[in-house]
Amino acid sequence: MSPDRTEAALRLRRARHVVAFTGAGISAESGVPTFRGPQGLWKNYRPEDLANPIAFERDPELVWEWYRWRQSIVQGCEPNAGHRALVDLAGKVARTSLITQNIDGLHERAGSSPVVELHGNIWKTRCTKEGTVRPFQGELRCQCGAWLRPHIVWFGEALDRATLEDAFQAARTCDVLLAVGTSALVAPANMLPLLARSAGGTVIEVNLEPTPLTAQADFFLKGPAGEVLPELVRRAFPS
Ligand code: OAD
Repeated sequence: MSPDRTEAALRLRRARHVVAFTGAGISAESGVPTFRGPQGLWKNYRPEDLANPIAFERDPELVWEWYRWRQSIVQGCEPNAGHRALVDLAGKVARTSLITQNIDGLHERAGSSPVVELHGNIWKTRCTKEGTVRPFQGELRCQCGAWLRPHIVWFGEALDRATLEDAFQAARTCDVLLAVGTSALVAPANMLPLLARSAGGTVIEVNLEPTPLTAQADFFLKGPAGEVLPELVRRAFPS
């Protein structure tokens, strides 16, 4: 381990409150395509073309076809060593907050609880008329006749205010924020590491490549989350 990694592990060991802030990269090793990689494309559509309310209004069946495709991918995937390392970490630190931009539900399946899902969940639907949120059970229409939509925050839509405020508060008060597998391009979620940093917290970034966050992070641990996170947790809490 490089000195950087040793020092990062030490900060983690001393922390009383750790925020784990995750993006699509943590699920990449499970086989879920990231948004901005080449595998994010579907029938030549970019996610931005389909994950928006205008696309749904224009062609709900097309948008649902894309989500059914994504559900089928996620269904065949299992949580990986990166997800599991965050479960281990939660058992070792006095307080942890897991905040994800992912909609795949893999953190819960790994055993993390609670998980703050900033962008919703692919296994939930919401009635476009009544607003009722229900588990996805295959139907695309509500009993009231209106379309159901995926319970996901789309481009151009606001995040749930209370959820976001809780996430901001966790970032402001944590000792360490781990930013894992996120391109840090999408606001307002990408403000979380900056809030932690400006409140005096340590920011440890884990990614395959540098991002706009890297220059602001205290530590940049380059590599796959499924390798870097278990190694970091082992180093911080040797048994
Ligand atoms: P992106 O697809 O933008 O970025 C994925 C990041 O993960 C990149 O920085 C990769 O370098 C990194 N990465 C890939 N594989 C990795 C691995 N094995 N280990 C570590 N890092 C890895 O995904 P997000 O940042 O999550 O929003 O995207 C943010 C939001 O943009 C998403 O939640 C989604 C999208 O629009 C909504 O759907 C609202």
